[in-house]
Amino acid sequence: MLTNDQLDRWDRESFFHPSTHLAQHARGESPGRIVTGGEGVYIEDRDGNRLLDAFAGLYCVNVGYGRPEIAEAIAAQARELAYYHAYVGTGTEASITLAHMILERAPKGMSKVYFGLGGSDANETNIKLIWYYNNILGRPEKKKIISRWRGYHGSGLMTGSLTGLELFHKKFDLPLPQVLHTEAPYYFRRPDPAMTEAQFTAHCVAKLEEMIDREGADTIAAFIGEPVLGTGGIVPPPEGYWPAIQEVLDRHDILLIADEVVTGFGRLGTMFGSDHYGMRPDLITIAKGLTSAYAPLSGSIVGDRMWKVLEQGTDENGAIGHGWTYSAHPIGAAAGVANLKLVDSLGLVANAGSTGALLNAALKDALGEHPNVGEVRGAGMLAAVEFVEDRETRKPLDPARKIGPALAAKLLEQDKVIARAMPQGDILGFAPPLCLTPEEAGTIVEATARAVKSVLG
Ligand SMILES: Cc1ncc(COP(=O)(O)O)c(C=O)c1O
Repeated sequence: MLTNDQLDRWDRESFFHPSTHLAQHARGESPGRIVTGGEGVYIEDRDGNRLLDAFAGLYCVNVGYGRPEIAEAIAAQARELAYYHAYVGTGTEASITLAHMILERAPKGMSKVYFGLGGSDANETNIKLIWYYNNILGRPEKKKIISRWRGYHGSGLMTGSLTGLELFHKKFDLPLPQVLHTEAPYYFRRPDPAMTEAQFTAHCVAKLEEMIDREGADTIAAFIGEPVLGTGGIVPPPEGYWPAIQEVLDRHDILLIADEVVTGFGRLGTMFGSDHYGMRPDLITIAKGLTSAYAPLSGSIVGDRMWKVLEQGTDENGAIGHGWTYSAHPIGAAAGVANLKLVDSLGLVANAGSTGALLNAALKDALGEHPNVGEVRGAGMLAAVEFVEDRETRKPLDPARKIGPALAAKLLEQDKVIARAMPQGDILGFAPPLCLTPEEAGTIVEATARAVKSVLG
């Protein structure tokens, strides 16, 4: 077996890590970690640390680590048939079964599932399907996509453009010109502190209407949004937001993509966030919780009205010119089938609702009155604490102090709890596995309170 030193050297010399300060990592200035195992909500590293993963990897290991049911399903599929493609109508038992299981759980009005590998490529698929749809309908000008500031939809060319976070655009020549960003539904950062939630919703809707009027509804194809903003800061929508947005979209014949990569399969305490918030999407993006990340798999769930036009398109033009070698990979599909069964048999959707509510309430109790806490917010098994200089004025902390990362580092160092310093703002995010127990939720909250005391007093 390689020693830690040897692996560490190879890591710095050879491995291009995503979302990493490349120069610091190569120079050995950033900590890094070599992860070796996981069980339940804990991971282990090569230095013998056992860490409570309160972010479920990247909010994806929903059933928790080390589930033999999924490992065995993957092994059995690999032995029987590791790969065959899904082109020209070919399928496997696992991929067909999984598509059926997804539609059984999906909101009403959904027709088919296209499988990809990750959330980014699923959203790339969605945009292509929307462009194709409008071309088939003879509306070649109706192509622009409206996203929101602080939305996260991936880091490809189109999906990095849809993402509304500065880090993902800067120096990459993004966003692409077909993408527009509208107001983030971020009540804490409302322009006027006197606004009620309902007034702020009306403000977001007015901003959207202004954009549609300015650009022309006949140039706008779709609106994309996460039911709850995730990487942009874990922000549930203000009161009445989704029904009001949906009404505007319907009136202008603009399609809705619900990006449920984080919220799909239970994280909010409901199977999908669209149901939870009254969205009526034409496309739903799924990934992460589909396999609990035991194997890479994503999907685009296509609604009835788009499906009919896609069929018409292939009658007119021949087979659809879209597909990946690994679309509907049998190993990913087998992992998905076993995972969804486990989500059901363990009652994880209900647990996300009940234990998630406990986690959120306990975080509020412990930190809600701290002078540097601007807001404690969340939904289901998602929670965030936003830190500020002054809670009355909501003045942000000096970004140079990097308080978010300092808090995450302190949590890890003192109590071996992993939370995520969200990339924009001083926000500590929590998205534990959906199997979290009330005791584990208590450990997270106590550790967070201790870290806040150590860093901010
Ligand atoms: C809402 C949402 N959409 C899309 C993505 C992109 O998924 P992936 O990283 O698998 O490409 C993410 C990833 O965090 C996400 O949170």
